[in-house]
Amino acid sequence: MRVANRWRLECAECGARFESDPPGFACPKCDGLLQLVRNQDDPLTRSELFGRTGEGIWRFRASLPFGSDTSPDSLREGGTPLIKTRNISREVGLTNLYVKYEGQNPTGSFKDRGMTVSVTRALQAGARALICASTGNTSASMSAYAARAGVKAVVVVPSGKVAAGKLVQAVAYGATIIKTDGTFDDALSLTIKATSSLQGFCLMNSVNPYRIEGQKTVAFEIYEQLGFAVPDYVVLPVGNAGNLTAVWKGFKEMKEHGITDRLPRMVGVQAEGAAPIARAFWKGADTATPIADPRTVASAIRIGNPASAKKALRALKESNGMVLTVTDDEIVQARLALAAREGIFVEPASATPVAAMKEIGGRLEKGAVVVCIATGNGLKDQETVMMDLDKSPTVSDAQGLVGLLGRLAG
Ligand code: F0G
Repeated sequence: MRVANRWRLECAECGARFESDPPGFACPKCDGLLQLVRNQDDPLTRSELFGRTGEGIWRFRASLPFGSDTSPDSLREGGTPLIKTRNISREVGLTNLYVKYEGQNPTGSFKDRGMTVSVTRALQAGARALICASTGNTSASMSAYAARAGVKAVVVVPSGKVAAGKLVQAVAYGATIIKTDGTFDDALSLTIKATSSLQGFCLMNSVNPYRIEGQKTVAFEIYEQLGFAVPDYVVLPVGNAGNLTAVWKGFKEMKEHGITDRLPRMVGVQAEGAAPIARAFWKGADTATPIADPRTVASAIRIGNPASAKKALRALKESNGMVLTVTDDEIVQARLALAAREGIFVEPASATPVAAMKEIGGRLEKGAVVVCIATGNGLKDQETVMMDLDKSPTVSDAQGLVGLLGRLAG
């Protein structure tokens, strides 16, 4: 199946071009990541981009690499709320702190934006089964879209290291779960090796450039929801680093096509024990040195060898951005604060942007428009919250309850 008209598929490192999707989406010449690029002589207008309503991310189909006859495998992803914080903004010292709540996607994370696009493409290209390695959310998302499209789903997960709520989703959607010893990085590496030698399986990790195309749509929504304004900073968690490159691509495309006249600064956030991109960034390196044993409570971003490190480091430099690190304790506190002070319940990885803003918000311009991307729903990973439940009092009759309530009211 050829790449859509007016688009090219090329290696982001050596520039090699491809007529159709190569197995495993790796460049056979240099092993670089592939990217989809719209031809320069094919302008995208504001009315093409924003003229349609009500179809989730597919309302932005003018920006996606498909012909108009494509019928998407969709569960109505995207269209998530952009919420202006009321209480945390005061603590952080920023008057315009927003949360883009991606936990409201069909399977509860931003992955659905990319998955609807990559699954639609995989089916067009004749895939019979979909496969991914995952820290949990990619597997939940892929399994749902595979179920809808009527193809097999195989997920490879690091044994004992994925939040139960995410595994439950993959099981419910009917995926085959394969466990591996070692880290997510080990699981991804063996999945990539296996898929490059197998026919019929399509790799659904974010090295699949169609995922990036879907995920870039969050930039369009943020711009629209801010009243057609580009934020000053976009802050997001970084694991494998695909999403940072995707969001940056969305903003860049709007600027390249003259829809906007400025760009945001990208701010990535990693957990202190799993921060290869932060280390590389502050050293001024253009590639990350892998960490063998990444550790953090935020299992979604417990990643030591990010597949999109080079692309992300380029995006950070281009956007005059930065990468910050936060401790596990700061992540847990920010997660609780978002839930208890704003009513927004997110999983640990998704609280890292707010944790970072608590640290450095006061040093940014007070009126800066800052958008934190809350990538996943809190219900997926209940561990650090359930610990609090153990401290709750128990009552056995109404009198006991009255006594307790009296003390609470006082
Ligand atoms: N937030 C959440 C909730 C995630 O699940 C992930 C990645 C990220 C942030 C980081 O995004 O990898 O593009 O930098 N989860 C992947 C998975 C690795 O398998 O679900 P990234």
